[in-house]
Amino acid sequence: MNDTVKRPSFGAVLTSHMAVANFQDGQWGPSEVKPVEPITLSPAAHVLHYASTCFEGFKAFRQPDGRVKIFRMDMHIRRMQQSARQLTLPEPDPEQLAAMVRAVINRCKDEVPEAPGALYLRPLLIGTMANIGAAATPSSSASLIVLASQVWDYFAGGMKPLRILVDDVNTRCAAHLGVVKTGGNYAAAMAPTREARAKFNADQVLFCPDGEVQETGAANFLLIRAGQIMTRSLDLTFLHGVTRDSLLKIAAENGYKVTERVFSVAEMLEWAKTGEAALSGTAAILAGVGTLIHRGIEHKVGSGDVGPLTRALRTQLVAIHQGLAPDRHGWLQDS
Ligand code: PLP
Ligand code: COI
Repeated sequence: MNDTVKRPSFGAVLTSHMAVANFQDGQWGPSEVKPVEPITLSPAAHVLHYASTCFEGFKAFRQPDGRVKIFRMDMHIRRMQQSARQLTLPEPDPEQLAAMVRAVINRCKDEVPEAPGALYLRPLLIGTMANIGAAATPSSSASLIVLASQVWDYFAGGMKPLRILVDDVNTRCAAHLGVVKTGGNYAAAMAPTREARAKFNADQVLFCPDGEVQETGAANFLLIRAGQIMTRSLDLTFLHGVTRDSLLKIAAENGYKVTERVFSVAEMLEWAKTGEAALSGTAAILAGVGTLIHRGIEHKVGSGDVGPLTRALRTQLVAIHQGLAPDRHGWLQDS
């Protein structure tokens, strides 16, 4: 496939099969792989009223020898366990969840696209207890569902430089829930993101509560310049990206000085005059920022195009994904 071929938008198409396991009476039941079909849920289900839900997103890649490898599934499963704990949902059993992911990949093996496509894995955990009074009571039952989707670029337009609205008024989510990958956080970012699109033709909002740079609605935020990379230090306010972690390790191996600390919008705008900025995430991989829009003023990032350092780091990570560069950290796991 060449780049001019029309591909489905990210996540719009599912593979033929999913895996499902249910939690009841204090334990997880056996998992089952079955054709993707609607699920049955009580209209009183906990998730529908009190948003007891979390999910994960990671990718599997077809390797040059035809096998399919999963990128850092262990870290994503740990993050899902942490999300579940924070939301008082039954924690998925890590071995069972890994087996469910592998079962879906193996059942859908022929549906895994060739590079540069990938299979996006989407485990979803929902509280199913039927009780509309349970606003302050955890769901005693839950379903864990693993979906898969053939994906290519997240942002339409591939490597086009992104326009990012810098928002120092709104927060993306409650301060202690940033580390939790839960639907409510995305719901909260939806209106500001739609407004940014309508008013400024922005691709994403960079949330900077109290003037501190945090993350965008669906990716972490990195500043890059020759020999230096900077991003916010880990705390509870934002999602600890697996891609962020991978890129910081690759950058360090390239001899970059890696700085993780709190920094301000003013500092970011100063950096942007001569440096680069990018969004990192499973879906985005590493997507270059061309313009930061702050209080109605457009600030070009470097030349306004995707920077060369951003492109080089992305190429290095993609080469590991696709089995074209040595996997020194053991990030690719068997399917
Ligand atoms: N921040 C948010 C809000 C996200 O939705 C994502 C994507 O999953 C990330 C950061 C990046 O996380 P990861 O690199 O683990 O995909
Ligand atoms: C991911 O990178 O997995 C994301 O969270 C993006 C997704 C919300 C589409």
